[in-house]
Amino acid sequence: MILPSPLPPLRTARLVLRRPIPTDIADRLALGRDPEIYRNLGADTRNLKSITDEQAKAWVDNIASHPAAWVIEHQGRAIGEILIDNFVEADQRAGLIIGVLDPTCLGKGLGTEAIKAVAEFCFDVLGLHKLSMRVLSFNTRAIRAYERVGFVREGLERESAFIGGVWYDDVIVGLLKRDFDALRGHQPGKSETAPPQLRS
Ligand SMILES: CC(C)(COP(=O)(O)OP(=O)(O)OC[C@H]1O[C@@H](n2cnc3c(N)ncnc32)[C@H](O)[C@@H]1OP(=O)(O)O)[C@@H](O)C(=O)NCCC(=O)NCCS
Repeated sequence: MILPSPLPPLRTARLVLRRPIPTDIADRLALGRDPEIYRNLGADTRNLKSITDEQAKAWVDNIASHPAAWVIEHQGRAIGEILIDNFVEADQRAGLIIGVLDPTCLGKGLGTEAIKAVAEFCFDVLGLHKLSMRVLSFNTRAIRAYERVGFVREGLERESAFIGGVWYDDVIVGLLKRDFDALRGHQPGKSETAPPQLRS
């Protein structure tokens, strides 16, 4: 896996995607565990407990120790995370995972904004060919947000998630670089940002 070191912050109109800072622990604690968000993330929400100091710290530590994860910052505070996972170098593809954890921030285009920024990074800086995401079939907001970025439904994995004693399907969506380029009006080979110093 080849990643710039350090992982650069990514800026959008309303967000900064950046590595964790100490105040993120208090922000994560304040976000708590919204039942609808946790259900969409695949949790059994029947006995959802409030988040502890240790769990908030662990959330931040996990992002800090992941080589390709960013805290999503909006209006000066952490509201979620986004990360690149499952790199398959031979096939130039990877997976994306996102969680906006503040219910007041959902449905305002912020998730789309974060995914676009990371997709741009994956295609222009890492040189990937394809990105994939896995989403619970009932998570219509997420599917719609991914489609807004340009992801296309590629398949359905039947009964792949067992949540609260019930089986649910997963939808697999994929985004090819050329589809993303077409949507952003990108000319192949033109005005690519110079990649930063890379390490293996
Ligand atoms: C999935 C997620 C990243 C999407 O980001 P977002 O900022 O909320 O989404 P956006 O506002 O960019 O786009 C949402 C789209 O769904 C629509 N939408 C909003 N609320 C919705 C709802 N409750 N049900 C269905 N669609 C909804 C919006 O209208 C918009 O579509 P449109 O542009 O055609 O109008 C974010 O909601 C999130 O992190 N949710 C919690 C955790 C989660 O579900 N993670 C994904 C796991 S795979």
